[in-house]
Amino acid sequence: MADKNIKSVLLEERTFPPPREFTARARIKPADAENLRRRAREDHVGFWADLAAAELTWQKPFTKAFDDSDAPNYRWFSDGRLNASVNCLDIHLNERGHKTALIFEGEPGDVRRLSYRELHAEVCRFANALKAQGIGRGDRVIIYMPLVPEIVIAMHACNRIGAIHSVVFGGFSAPALRDRIEDTEARVVITADGGWRGGQAIELKAAADKALSAGCPSVQRVIVLRRTGKPVAMQPGRDLWWHEVIEGHAAACEPEWVDAEHPLFVLYTSGSTGKPKGVQHATGGYLLQTKLTTQWVFDLRDDDVFWCTADVGWVTGHSYVAYGPLAMGATVVLYEGTPTVPDGGRFWRNCQNHGVTVFYTAPTAIRALMKLGDELPGKYDLKRLRLLGSVGEPINPEAWIWYHRVIGNGRCPIVDTWWQTETGAILISPLPGVTSTKPGSCTQPLPGIDADIVDDRGNPVKRADAGGYLVIRKPWPSMLRTIWRNNDRYIAGYWEKFDNRYYVAGDSAHRDKDGYFWIMGRIDDVLNVAGHRLGTMEIESALVAHPRVAEAAVVGKPHEIKGEAVFAYVVTAASGRAVRRPRSPGSCATGSASS
Ligand code: PRX
Repeated sequence: MADKNIKSVLLEERTFPPPREFTARARIKPADAENLRRRAREDHVGFWADLAAAELTWQKPFTKAFDDSDAPNYRWFSDGRLNASVNCLDIHLNERGHKTALIFEGEPGDVRRLSYRELHAEVCRFANALKAQGIGRGDRVIIYMPLVPEIVIAMHACNRIGAIHSVVFGGFSAPALRDRIEDTEARVVITADGGWRGGQAIELKAAADKALSAGCPSVQRVIVLRRTGKPVAMQPGRDLWWHEVIEGHAAACEPEWVDAEHPLFVLYTSGSTGKPKGVQHATGGYLLQTKLTTQWVFDLRDDDVFWCTADVGWVTGHSYVAYGPLAMGATVVLYEGTPTVPDGGRFWRNCQNHGVTVFYTAPTAIRALMKLGDELPGKYDLKRLRLLGSVGEPINPEAWIWYHRVIGNGRCPIVDTWWQTETGAILISPLPGVTSTKPGSCTQPLPGIDADIVDDRGNPVKRADAGGYLVIRKPWPSMLRTIWRNNDRYIAGYWEKFDNRYYVAGDSAHRDKDGYFWIMGRIDDVLNVAGHRLGTMEIESALVAHPRVAEAAVVGKPHEIKGEAVFAYVVTAASGRAVRRPRSPGSCATGSASS
């Protein structure tokens, strides 16, 4: 790719300094940001090591902060031992055991609150249940559930016993689920009878049964949560109800202490081949950076109510629902459904009813709700909101300004956060009490993140209007460790292009005269539809798997609300003649997260 092809066309001159009152109370003030940046510049590893020692609770402290002997398979804090659920739950029990950890609202309107003490008890009970089923350290557990408290409970129960979770978004189809079960060789699938989305009961157990009927010999147990109450088939000897499996188990469970490098989870994302990649994250580094970024970027304080609208099936829901905010002892809102049920005021009604103070969503949702006008948000009391966030795709200035004016009433800073499944945590973002924002720019790298834009030869791009490859020059603790059982793909996909010198994000970007980053889009065969990554090859594989399709080619097409839409050219097989070919290795989403 020549850099002349990635020239920036976006010109946005407006800037919004942080409101003085916000800065006065912010966790990170301009002087703090300066100190953090200086410390990181002077001693990159020491910077992260000090934070890891101070922020995380270790069963055995680390002595080795960083190990590059296997570069680019970097390791952080590798001889330290800890447990993720202890760092998200146990550490709060004394001081804020009775504080609400989760406020759940189902799409039908049912509301449940769990305190830190209750969440801890449920996690322990389910962890004991998993142990009783023979699950332990290193075993893979697939979680295919609606966005209900039990999905968070299941994730923490896994990490409590050292098992590795892999959450599959509930909108994915049976073949997508089957691919992930087979790749991880999971022993257990945790699912539900269904979940409520878009006014309908989505049948998850039926999809899981379909996935399992086509092989998946590794799976010994399927644990089923009752959510919708619709009848489901239970296979004797394999399937167990959640409420039965936890019966009689204690509300305390000794944590399994694991090395900092122990895999915490595998989360699949699209790449430029037909096969999704299992992005593998490590316990210590991931926890550290999700916790810190929740603190720095979302400025969370004890009285905040934080709502990140992403489904836990995506990385945003891992980092900013299940891990970062709980590590901070925050109150987290969980909403099962779509933004438009019963009408397009649902998000704003939820904000009002649960007293949301910090709200984090995707540009697609903002654009869709903007289209409905100012009247709907105007019906609700949004005065408690104090900070707004955006993630997943570039936000166009028009949507940014609407979000700022109508939802934030001109008072709330907006943090446009750039990151990826692979980066684990936010890397480029405003610090809300420090950074002047510009609509459409994710502004500057966070302290400790050495981001740059380089040309085809790997040289820094200096000209303000010229685009290039977005790269991260120095390893960071929450980076992916590898692609599950495919380290060659890890190296080829992220490092080889510039001889292993930097992490190549796969995005093009440019930097303006103030050093602000503007993300321009993907440079590989990956589409970003409604903030979700879809590989063109994956969709093509799914299309040609149909017996009546001879050939298919997929491209992206600009879309007013979703940012990008899928456009497929399909050549059908000659009249009535089916093409026979082996089943596709790819996967295909059947729904959209509308997060
Ligand atoms: O292209 C970038 C875009 O989303 C990609 C990462 O997708 P995924 O791994 O699914 O994670 C999404 C949630 C973190 C990136 O390579 N992207 C993410 N955030 C932004 C963005 N593009 C522009 N601005 C952002 N704030």
